[in-house]
Amino acid sequence: MDTKKFDVVVIGAGPGGYVAAIKAAQNGASVCLIEKGDLGGTCLNVGCIPTKTLLANAEVMHKIQLAEQYGIMVDGVRFDFGKMKQRKDGVVQKIRKSLEGLLLANKIVIVRGEAEFLSPREIKVKGADNVMIVADKTIIATGSIPMDIPALPCDHKRVFNSTSILELTELPKTLVVIGGGYIGCEFASLYAAFGVKVIILEALSSIVSLQGKAIAESLTRAFTKRGIEIQTDVTVESIEHMSSGLTVHLKGGAKVSCDMALVSIGRKVVSDKLGLDKAGVVTSSRGSIVVNDKMETNVPGIYAIGDVTGKYMLAHVASHQGIIAAANAIGQEAMMHYEAVPAVIFTEPEIATVGVTLEQALESGKDAMLGKFPFLALGKSQAAIETEGFAQVVSDKKTGAILGAQVVGHGAASLIAEMGLAIANELTLDCLADTIHAHPTLPEAWMEAALLAMDAPIHMPPKLKK
Ligand code: NAI
Repeated sequence: MDTKKFDVVVIGAGPGGYVAAIKAAQNGASVCLIEKGDLGGTCLNVGCIPTKTLLANAEVMHKIQLAEQYGIMVDGVRFDFGKMKQRKDGVVQKIRKSLEGLLLANKIVIVRGEAEFLSPREIKVKGADNVMIVADKTIIATGSIPMDIPALPCDHKRVFNSTSILELTELPKTLVVIGGGYIGCEFASLYAAFGVKVIILEALSSIVSLQGKAIAESLTRAFTKRGIEIQTDVTVESIEHMSSGLTVHLKGGAKVSCDMALVSIGRKVVSDKLGLDKAGVVTSSRGSIVVNDKMETNVPGIYAIGDVTGKYMLAHVASHQGIIAAANAIGQEAMMHYEAVPAVIFTEPEIATVGVTLEQALESGKDAMLGKFPFLALGKSQAAIETEGFAQVVSDKKTGAILGAQVVGHGAASLIAEMGLAIANELTLDCLADTIHAHPTLPEAWMEAALLAMDAPIHMPPKLKK
């Protein structure tokens, strides 16, 4: 077996790993990127990009359904889900090819195969390439996969996980979604847009429960309006295959019938076959690699980033951690900060959050308040018939420091960027209110929410003085 030596080796070419590799290479390091599957990882191949491509189709469908409100009569709408899948595959392939070009342009050596540590500095690769890699610095970015539990096995014919459901070319009549988190809600939204009867079964007392009460209630209302059935406080115990479909068994004896089911009950980290014990890297009981804010593991010279650290399972966090890890690996000093992490749930309507919710701020002992502005009161929303939802800002009562923001509605994914910038730069409500926002646009909602929090609303009636 050949041995090759590099300054930095990165294991895993997802949005964490490939960004880390580029950052290290840009700074003059010789870099090797090891990948056993497709370049781009979960995000590009079976996550963010394919789902967002399919959801773009759903958005067109949604607009067509509302066309009459715009004075446009659309008769006899038909669609071909197989063609949509083809377009999705094409988008993924195109980006994958550009990514390979980008890596090669940065003189990164791509090694194809599965990596396993033999010691803290030696990594054996087995697969299309069989080679021994020796490196001063290693960045582990091996990601996560859908959680599979014995009680709810996926046969990938009628019971799917978030990876295998992307291969469908025809729609079921009814789909049960087990787990109302990010993944479950995005797929529920997608399938409902194409007329599938969707039933979400969630063990907790609400869907997207981590996002706070206001978001959970708002999405529940919007989903219910779109015909999605939501059952909360129900735990799925097993799935029975019948001749004509599935029977989903709930704790307590209730049953739900459907054609297909999606199991979206969380993801688990990929760290078990890495030989971490031989490298001496410490993991938690759930297998996630323990790191500090410099993305260092307990072993000097070995870093870990992205889903495998079990912190935030978000592509953009992985990329940022990749930049921090690479900077430290090449001798610079860099630290991760998590105060302004945006998160988006690409449902219809979209949901986006950054920083803390009001509940979280109050729980942490902050004297916090809320300014909440409904899109119904915005000219641009009325003009576009996109009046659903709200934008709200959480701030410190005394200092006006912006602590968090949440938005539900059309364009939420893009709208949240302004608030990410505000929190990352420690801006206050005054800054938001004093910034001239173009009219008529959706970001005006942030300015109005800030004014509301300051008790100086322009486009809302003042509070009644007692
Ligand atoms: P999740 O942890 O967000 O939600 C899983 C839900 O399943 C939980 O609410 C849980 O209570 C429920 N559940 C578990 N067992 C159950 C049972 N037997 N019966 C009924 N309900 C049950 O996990 P999810 O949605 O699979 O997403 C995994 C990760 O992927 C998330 O952490 C998210 O950060 C990431 N992701 C991010 C996206 C984005 O940024 N737009 C999109 C998709 C995933």
